[in-house]
Amino acid sequence: MTAAEIRQQFLDFFKSKGHTIVPSAPVVLKDDPTLLFTNAGMNQFKDYFLGNKPAPSPRIADTQKCLRVSGKHNDLEEVGVDTYHHTLFEMLGNWSFGDYFKAEAIAWSWELLTEVYKLDKDRLYVTVFEGDEKEGLPPSKIALAEWKKILPEERIIFGNKKDNFWEMGDTGPCGPCTEIHVDCRSNEERVKIPGKDLVNNDHPQVIEIWNNVFIQYNRKKDGTLEPLPATHVDTGMGFERLVRVLQGKQSNYDTDVFTGTLAAIEKITNKKYTAGDDKESIAFRVLADHIRAISFTIADGQLPSNTGAGYVIRRILRRAVRYYYSYLDYKQPLLHQLLPVIAKQFENVFPELNAQKDFVGKVIKEEEEAFLRTLDKGLKKIDEVIASSQSSKTINGAAAFELLDTFGFPIDLTRLIASENNLSVDEVGFEKEMQEQKNRSRSASALDTEDWVTLIENVANKFVGYDSLETKSKIVKYRKVSGKGKELYQLVLDTTPFYAESGGQVGDRGELIIKNEKLKIVDTKKENDLIIHFTESIPDDLTGEVIAKVDAERRKNITVHHSATHLLQAALQQVLGKHIAQKGSLNNDENLRFDFSHFAKVTDEEISKVEQIVNEKIRANIPVVIKEMSKDEAIAMGAMALFGEKYGDKVRVVIMDPAYSIELCGGTHVGSTGELGLFKITSESAVAAGVRRIEAVCGIAAETLVSNTFAEINTIKGLLKNPKDINKSIENLLAENNTLSKRIEGLEARQLVGIRNELLQKDEIINNINFVGDIIEVSNADALKKLCFDLKNHLNNHVAVLCTNIDGKAFVAVSIADTVVAAKGLDAGKIIKEHISPLIKGGGGGQKNLATAGGQNVANLKDVIEKVKSLL
Ligand code: ALA
Repeated sequence: MTAAEIRQQFLDFFKSKGHTIVPSAPVVLKDDPTLLFTNAGMNQFKDYFLGNKPAPSPRIADTQKCLRVSGKHNDLEEVGVDTYHHTLFEMLGNWSFGDYFKAEAIAWSWELLTEVYKLDKDRLYVTVFEGDEKEGLPPSKIALAEWKKILPEERIIFGNKKDNFWEMGDTGPCGPCTEIHVDCRSNEERVKIPGKDLVNNDHPQVIEIWNNVFIQYNRKKDGTLEPLPATHVDTGMGFERLVRVLQGKQSNYDTDVFTGTLAAIEKITNKKYTAGDDKESIAFRVLADHIRAISFTIADGQLPSNTGAGYVIRRILRRAVRYYYSYLDYKQPLLHQLLPVIAKQFENVFPELNAQKDFVGKVIKEEEEAFLRTLDKGLKKIDEVIASSQSSKTINGAAAFELLDTFGFPIDLTRLIASENNLSVDEVGFEKEMQEQKNRSRSASALDTEDWVTLIENVANKFVGYDSLETKSKIVKYRKVSGKGKELYQLVLDTTPFYAESGGQVGDRGELIIKNEKLKIVDTKKENDLIIHFTESIPDDLTGEVIAKVDAERRKNITVHHSATHLLQAALQQVLGKHIAQKGSLNNDENLRFDFSHFAKVTDEEISKVEQIVNEKIRANIPVVIKEMSKDEAIAMGAMALFGEKYGDKVRVVIMDPAYSIELCGGTHVGSTGELGLFKITSESAVAAGVRRIEAVCGIAAETLVSNTFAEINTIKGLLKNPKDINKSIENLLAENNTLSKRIEGLEARQLVGIRNELLQKDEIINNINFVGDIIEVSNADALKKLCFDLKNHLNNHVAVLCTNIDGKAFVAVSIADTVVAAKGLDAGKIIKEHISPLIKGGGGGQKNLATAGGQNVANLKDVIEKVKSLL
């Protein structure tokens, strides 16, 4: 069976058991402050488990793109070194939302594995939860009883909380689980050691393939477990492992999930994959694995960057580059060359990659190029580190950390290079630096979130803000969050007119009126599907009716920018081409920012063309039609959907002339395009490889821009005495200024010669030294310095100190002939620092033969000269 057939059989099996098959949610998560990436199939269903939202169907199954390289579940360092961990992997899952429970889940998993996939029953082991006294959790009696109906008791193993109680993160839905493990060893080996002894022991051939979780609790912030109102099933089967078992391979990488990529790497590098434990084999596996994580996350809309999810992608990419650079001896960008293979392979499963393969390839290539340049520098840096570590025979922790932090050298690479040079790495020091960095980033970002206090049970938070900006509502729950020196409260309402930040549109502000008291709502955000209102304080009593009132003027200004973004995107597609896809968007009350995939600078002509089209559409006053329909219907209509966005079955479609712009969008929009008034692009720039940014204004913001610009021009005209042709007038002014500057330069040079000659007349001889000291008039400090320096060309054995007062500020320059420096040990820099700076209340410095200072006190310039004189 091919991997594709295996995936299909899973979906078909659960479909036959009444499950609705849904697409994978994006792997990059939005609206979830507890996670950067989808790390389990159940993430997208979290709200159904917690009872925040009813599930659209009681039984669902899918294959979900997951990434486990940050947070609670992190496998990165294992990937490639072993043969069964991955960064990005597919998790096959089936779910019951308050529907079937342990008996059915267990029976079906057995049926699928043994009757459909025909796995050898003798090779399967299962684990069940032994209970945990501290948590007050009983052993899983039901699961045990169900398994006993199916397989002999000696193949059922009790597991502790670590292995058999599954939690999504520090908080959230969780419950006991039962896992299915398979023993893939040869028969001889199985006779020697029973598979049971190897379960959960990191044996590469005795591996877990399927986890059946029974979601019964919500882990709260304070660590306690709260039973959920309904019980659910959440399962996850590692697709790559399943394929390996069914295809009878020893390693996930020997299956057709990876062999295409490995063959492509062989071709590119001219090396052979030998499936061993050597560095070269590991490098092959690292590349074959990492390219999937990198390309799918970028396709889901996350660009590599220096923070958050973007940084995780950057780290994965750098790990891959480092492996091919060091162990496959390949020194050019390689990963991007694998993209066509992956895009083709997943064309029908995750089509978003194939649809954007040029864009994703370009982003990866540029990222690789940039890191290869750093890597070169890093290798030079490591040479320096090696040289300076010779006496201690140890690379200190700070240096190892700098190599990682600045040059992207993972610690294992530094270790390897160290050992090649007979050095060791100060591991303790390195760990300390890592910990400090973690603390730094934690204190910069950490928000402490308390548990919700529920006032009304089981009420959905309904958004009515498309049509109303004021409602009578009730507060359903609230909690306190603190961090970054601030304390805020989050409130959830039963019904709200407040739009929560999403799809690029910022959250509403406004007020809640509660028993005649006004609470300012400073922001509104979404957390999964909850609409959360932020306020700085709350009264003691939050019960009863509240009036929720959106700041209507601000909302209007935001709305015009959101509608303008739709007109802009369609115009960009007309002018630049169909490849334009949204890569980021911000609509607020002051302007709009739109990032999109495009490989060249947008020229001035293209910008004007885009402006023209958008303004035409505004003048045409097109009615904005908003409809709900099925996603398939919308796509058939030609609606633009965003990659990396999660859409339900029913979607909201915003149409501004069906022949011009149809987008799937949850934002707020104007009634007709005329409300935008005027559209003006204010800037065009590059954001990242293949991504351009346009900023623009419309509505009142555009009006303000136009009147401010006119006012500025009028001021300029006034200053220029209202010329007929303002351009010509400014050109003349600049030309005149240029001529004058040149003339002044010539005059000043002549003047300086005059001053110098006068100074030479005043030369005094003190202890065989030619001393010149004077307060002179020059126009700038630089002229003073040059003049002082020039004196050495006209005097032997000299010391000169020149002072000036420019606009009430004191400037001093000291020059000393090299002969005097050598004979008398005088040092101009020291004199400036120690003697002159205090006198003029300022500072400065320089060399032994020339130094300068500037300060506030011009009254002491005479003393400055006397001081230097006294030193002679
Ligand atoms: N949510 C469970 C897991 O990820 C199935 O293992």
